[in-house]
Amino acid sequence: MDQLATADLTFTEHRHRLICGDCLTVLPTIDAGSVDVVVTSPPYNLGMTYRDYNDRRKEDEYLDWLTRVAHAVRRVMKAEGSFFLNISGSSSAPWLPFELIVRLRPLFVLQNHIAWIKSIATRDDAVGHYKPVGGRRFLHHNHEHIFHLTLTGDVKLDRLAIGVPFKDKSNIARRGHVRDLRCRGNTWFIPYDTVQSKAAKFHHPSTFPVALPRWCIRLHGHDNAVVVDPFMGTGTTLVAAELEGARGIGIDMDPAYVAIARRRLVEAGHVQHKLSGV
Ligand SMILES: C[S@@+](CC[C@H](N)C(=O)[O-])C[C@H]1O[C@@H](n2cnc3c(N)ncnc32)[C@H](O)[C@@H]1O
Repeated sequence: MDQLATADLTFTEHRHRLICGDCLTVLPTIDAGSVDVVVTSPPYNLGMTYRDYNDRRKEDEYLDWLTRVAHAVRRVMKAEGSFFLNISGSSSAPWLPFELIVRLRPLFVLQNHIAWIKSIATRDDAVGHYKPVGGRRFLHHNHEHIFHLTLTGDVKLDRLAIGVPFKDKSNIARRGHVRDLRCRGNTWFIPYDTVQSKAAKFHHPSTFPVALPRWCIRLHGHDNAVVVDPFMGTGTTLVAAELEGARGIGIDMDPAYVAIARRRLVEAGHVQHKLSGV
């Protein structure tokens, strides 16, 4: 590990906090009602090879655990906060994301259900990486879920902050829009960068692209937002918080991932400073 990985397990970088620990222990130490946005991707229980965490638990035990985490997340959220929960099933566990979201129904309103499209075929073209799938039973898995959970179902979003220009410009005047931007909708095409080595993926089996948490933070749309990721991994959400001018709190149980997250955050900070001429 590099020189940033010290014996300390909690770090402050710029305006962000990185905490090494179990999120079920750390979340209760955060003030109730203090968090604007939670963006996270928990382990999916698909047998991924994390360094410490066992990603193959009995399904009921796994769902009970994530429900407990969701209770802890709910406590820290502001009344008008947003919880973006990224999760996926698999051919062998296709019900899992749906089982989970039904369990969370007493806790949250499902305000939006976003499909994160990782690869797509349009007419006769295909864009994005296709993970090989053998046999004839199953189609390729091209998308994952992002459940946008809120306490009221009435959280106002800044849809145009991640908007796209109108294809047909006549719509702008005809429909009284002031800007050439319309809502992107609930299918988000965010492909992974093609990488050739594990190092380029920070030696972590399941990161998400930084655009994903950036879009969530922008869509929620509050200046100076407090953003929490209870399963921070390599710190992608904190890098997004840095790039979006938000304040991040990241938690992971694995000190090696926390160290990587810290290094990425320092690098993102340098890029930001260069861009802003500081
Ligand atoms: C799917 S990964 C998150 C990856 C992250 N989105 C990224 O881009 O790097 C889930 C992470 O949860 C961590 N984890 C598992 N159980 C945990 C717990 N009880 N508390 C905190 N972190 C935990 C694992 O170490 C793993 O890094």
